[in-house]
This record gives sequence, structure tokens and C-alpha cells, in this order.
Amino acid sequence: MWLMAVSISLVPVVIMVSSCFRVKVCSLCHRAQAWARWLIWGRVCVRSTYAFVFSNCTHGKPDSVLETFDLYSKMYPSVCIGPQVGEVLDDVMRRVGPSMVLELGMHCAYSSVRLLRLLPPGGRLITVEIDPFTADLGEEIILVAGFKDQFQVLPLSSGEAILSLRELLAPQKGGFSLVLMDHDPVLYLKDLLSLEAEGLLCPIGCSIILIHRDRRADSVKNILDYIRTKAQCYQIKTEIQIMTEICYKSAGTMVE
Ligand SMILES: *[C@@H]1O[C@H](CO)[C@@H](O)[C@H](O)[C@H]1NC(C)=O
Repeated sequence: MWLMAVSISLVPVVIMVSSCFRVKVCSLCHRAQAWARWLIWGRVCVRSTYAFVFSNCTHGKPDSVLETFDLYSKMYPSVCIGPQVGEVLDDVMRRVGPSMVLELGMHCAYSSVRLLRLLPPGGRLITVEIDPFTADLGEEIILVAGFKDQFQVLPLSSGEAILSLRELLAPQKGGFSLVLMDHDPVLYLKDLLSLEAEGLLCPIGCSIILIHRDRRADSVKNILDYIRTKAQCYQIKTEIQIMTEICYKSAGTMVE
């Protein structure tokens, strides 16, 4: 009799636990599915973009590489940021004149080529790509564009890469003065916090560019909310289409 009473009283608990669990499992499955789709579609896309650009551009000419990318994205779906957003990125490059640039999420290297062609002499680009296959093809495109030694491709997750950057940066202690985030938006806030913690943002000024294909996504809201709560360090400078520029300055730095 008491056993029955106990089991009946446990029913709501069991239902609750299992339904919570189901939600968790579902959201995990969902994310895994999205990842698989992204990986397969992403790779097909990268491969065909690469083939198109490689065979149709003038080798050694960055502007021709970019034009060929733009031609490709007029005909096929593409993850490239495109010429309009690209020109705004160019403006930021010209204004900031960064000696160290970090790109998280290289994809087909469209933005890497854009950044490299405006890098001041002696400047460096470190670009991070989680998928090693994509990283290889992206690096090929950079070489096709004619760049040889001003860049380094890290085929790592953004989290791993950030933890290894201090060492890579050693000679230029100042940190990055431009960071382009175009990887998984779910990681934007986490990665910004670890860039801060590792002291990788140039204290006298760093522009952080966020690419967000879906501006209403929670992950984008989260990083922008964080930026607003730290107004002594961060300021939102421009927001256009799929791009937001944030200016960072260490709270301890006095800048006129
Ligand atoms: C080069 O461009 C043409 C269109 O201008 C296209 O039909 C062709 O497939 C491209 N080459 C490759 C290898 O994608």
C-alpha cells in the first residue's frame, strides 16, 4: 500500500524530469543537426567557391580574386560578406591601420584577402578556421591572391586559438587592433571575454567587427548587451546590414 502511495507521489517528478531531459536532448540534437548540415553544405560551398575563384581569377591580383568571389556569389549561395559590407570593412581597415589583425572564421578567405590587401607594411593577419579542409582551401586562395608571408592560418577552434595567441604575438606586445568575428555567433561573447582575459585587445584601441547574418539571434543580443554594460571600455560605432563595429579601449588608458 505505502509503495503505491510513494510511486503515485513520484509520478509528477518523473514526468517533470523526463520532460526537462527531453527538451535538453532535443536542443542538443537540433544543434548537432545544424552543425552537420553546416559542415556538409559548408564544405560543398567552399569547394565549389574555391574551384570557381581559382580557375576564373587573375592569379597574384587580390582585386581580381575579390571580383571573382563577387561574381560567384551573384550566381550561387555563398557565405561571403559581399562587396557592400566588404567596402565598409575596407573603410575600417583604412581608418585603424592595424598592425595586428585577428580573423575568427575564415571560410573561403574572401575577407582575409580584403584585409590583407589593406594591411600596412609589416602588419600581420592571423586567421582562425575550425574546419581543417576549409582552412586548407582558404590558405590556397590567399596564396593565389599573391600574399606570402603576412599571414598565418590556424586550423583550430576559436577558443583553442585564443589561448595560443599570446605566444604568437610575443614580439608585438600591443595586442590586436582589429578583430573580425565571423565564426559561430554562439561563441562571440565567450571569445570576446577570453580575448579580454588574455590581454589580446590593444589597450589604446581595438575595433571589433561582428558579422551577424541573423541580428535578432540571442547570441548577438548577448554580446551587444554585454557591450552596453561596459560603456567605460566599449562603444558601438557603426551598425550596417550584417555588420556591427565596436570600439574597445582599456578603461585604464587615457586617450585624447
Ligand atoms: C568560371 O566561370 C564561368 C562563368 O563565368 C563558369 O561557368 C565556370 O564554371 C567557372 N569555372 C569553375 C571551375 O567553376
